[in-house]
Amino acid sequence: MKVVITGSSGFIGFHAAKKFLDNGFEVIGIDNENDYYDKELKTNRRKILLSNENFKFECLDLSKDTIIEKLNEISPDYIVNLAAQAGVRHSLKFPHDYTRSNIDSFLNILEYAKSSDSLQHLVYASTSSVYGANTDLPFQESHGVDHPLQYYAVTKRANELMAHSYSNLYNIRTTGLRFFTVYGPWGRPDMALFLFTDAILKGEPIKVFNNGNHKRDFTYVDDIVQGIFLSTTDTKFVTPDDHRFKNPSISKFPYRILNIGRGKPENLEDFITEIEENLGKKANKEYLPMQPGDVPTSHADISEIMKLGYKPETSISQGVKNFIEWYLDYYNIEV
Ligand SMILES: NC(=O)c1ccc[n+]([C@@H]2O[C@H](COP(=O)([O-])OP(=O)(O)OC[C@H]3O[C@@H](n4cnc5c(N)ncnc54)[C@H](O)[C@@H]3O)[C@@H](O)[C@H]2O)c1
Repeated sequence: MKVVITGSSGFIGFHAAKKFLDNGFEVIGIDNENDYYDKELKTNRRKILLSNENFKFECLDLSKDTIIEKLNEISPDYIVNLAAQAGVRHSLKFPHDYTRSNIDSFLNILEYAKSSDSLQHLVYASTSSVYGANTDLPFQESHGVDHPLQYYAVTKRANELMAHSYSNLYNIRTTGLRFFTVYGPWGRPDMALFLFTDAILKGEPIKVFNNGNHKRDFTYVDDIVQGIFLSTTDTKFVTPDDHRFKNPSISKFPYRILNIGRGKPENLEDFITEIEENLGKKANKEYLPMQPGDVPTSHADISEIMKLGYKPETSISQGVKNFIEWYLDYYNIEV
């Protein structure tokens, strides 16, 4: 079985590629390895994947329509689309990056999918940010998602709508996974765990937004890739005969959206305490108001994806410990 994983040099794509390789798949990674954050981290992830002979890599920009020809050449059984311009804060300054990498790129993948004879299932990353101004917790797939609070969420919601229309027109099986704050080894340098660890080690202040009153459904990356794998290879997904899900309701074609989180939100302050304990160093906290586009709480209802056998198992204390061990080893730091 052949799977294309886009964003394979990125954080989740790297772990997802390893998961598919461990399960005997042939994996073709596609990534443009852009400089949104430290390129070396991307190169090093790619080098690890390339040490497995079942992994091939294509350095390509998915927003260019030549990608369709390349996908035709590869003829994968599955596509897992994890490439994107991520990050809420960056979207306030550079919205065009999001149109290119999230919308134009996904349209190219859908254009390939509509005429592919080999493709069995297209799985793509969405985000908890699509719940935007919702205050009804926990977030369920059936909740309204028509009130995004920033442009990153708009592009991810657009992906869900694009998939809906292509599933309808061309009977393509699509699954959109709404990820909730993913963390773990090889994590993203623009996310809280990485930023806090770096600052605490340097003795610099950490920025604690919303005066520390944030709650996040932090989800460990191994649990996330377990969910990606289970949903991609789920052979029973043949709507409209699939009665396992209350969502996605009215569609008469193979389209679904699933939350993928831990289902247990944690206080940001408790998360910081875990980092401090693992580093044996106290953080110097700079309390700041809520940032534009942020939401105070994210909490996933994961009952739908659990029907596929998904079961998040990693506690915050274990997950943070694993991250810190990786970080100290990778940057050769002794504490
Ligand atoms: N990490 C999280 O907490 C989180 C939460 C919600 C959703 N997501 C989504 O999950 C997916 C993976 O996120 P991540 O944390 O691994 O991010 P990441 O930035 O580490 O990985 C994304 C990868 O995509 C590549 N890429 C970007 N634009 C591209 C293009 N036009 N062509 C080819 N490659 C391109 C980047 O170089 C990068 O390696 C993204 O779609 C993201 O929006 C992540």
